[in-house]
Amino acid sequence: MIAELVTWLTTRCAPPARQLGYLYEAIAMRERVKRCEVSWRSHLTQSRQFAGACMEQQAAGGIALVLGSGLGLDIPQQALLEHFDEVWLVDMVHLRSTRKSWQGSPKVKFIEADVTEVLASVTRGELDRAQPKRWLDNPDIRFVLSANILGQLPVQPLAWLAKHYPYKDEANLDQWSQQLLQAHLDYLRAFADKGAKVCLIADLEWHYAESNQVREVVDAWRGLEQPLPDARWEWRIAPRGEMGLNRTQTNWVGGWCW
Ligand SMILES: C[S@@+](CC[C@H](N)C(=O)[O-])C[C@H]1O[C@@H](n2cnc3c(N)ncnc32)[C@H](O)[C@@H]1O
Repeated sequence: MIAELVTWLTTRCAPPARQLGYLYEAIAMRERVKRCEVSWRSHLTQSRQFAGACMEQQAAGGIALVLGSGLGLDIPQQALLEHFDEVWLVDMVHLRSTRKSWQGSPKVKFIEADVTEVLASVTRGELDRAQPKRWLDNPDIRFVLSANILGQLPVQPLAWLAKHYPYKDEANLDQWSQQLLQAHLDYLRAFADKGAKVCLIADLEWHYAESNQVREVVDAWRGLEQPLPDARWEWRIAPRGEMGLNRTQTNWVGGWCW
């Protein structure tokens, strides 16, 4: 508890990362991965392997851009460092422990930024629908990894809006959330159109079970059509004990290499 508080107080990040709860979530995830190491292992290994195999399809050199780099757990760190001249890690927040895990490599650039480019409007209670464009004009970006961020994009904004603007119209929020996902997919496609190799790793469905019976399945793409993934696997994200005695959550995850 004290270690978490110290991390919360001493982590350098932009105000929206604290305000919208990204810092809190990063610290919570760091603790969760310790508790759930065994049940997360296969997902993390498969993510790294899938991203690594996709990366191999691109010639060496240039910049690898990782969107949603987070704690860096599902990212083939060493392979990226060996294959590219620079590795740019983009997330709302990078914890000190995460920075250390990249072993001080001079190739690594930590970028605290909002990949949707609309979060500033959310903190004003507005639902901006801008299309992200950052770095699209950089021809040195040869590989883009969207690392398990797609389904998460609306989660923190929606939680924050529910607390601070509870009167917002549900249908409008649903539409906005779906548009946020679509804008990210279009952003990735735009990199692919410019010749970068793109690897998308994203939740497909969230399965909630009670006493081993699936009770609820949530579409992580919020109604958007899902292209057939090149690979899919399970992430036992909340084993027994994480969400209560009998309740568990398993995410179905997809990998696409464009
Ligand atoms: C499920 S985690 C991804 C896991 C991460 N790849 C790892 O290995 O730890 C989702 C990540 O997306 C980040 N994120 C969510 N929305 C974001 C946004 N709008 N801009 C930048 N990062 C965002 C979160 O901070 C979190 O680190």
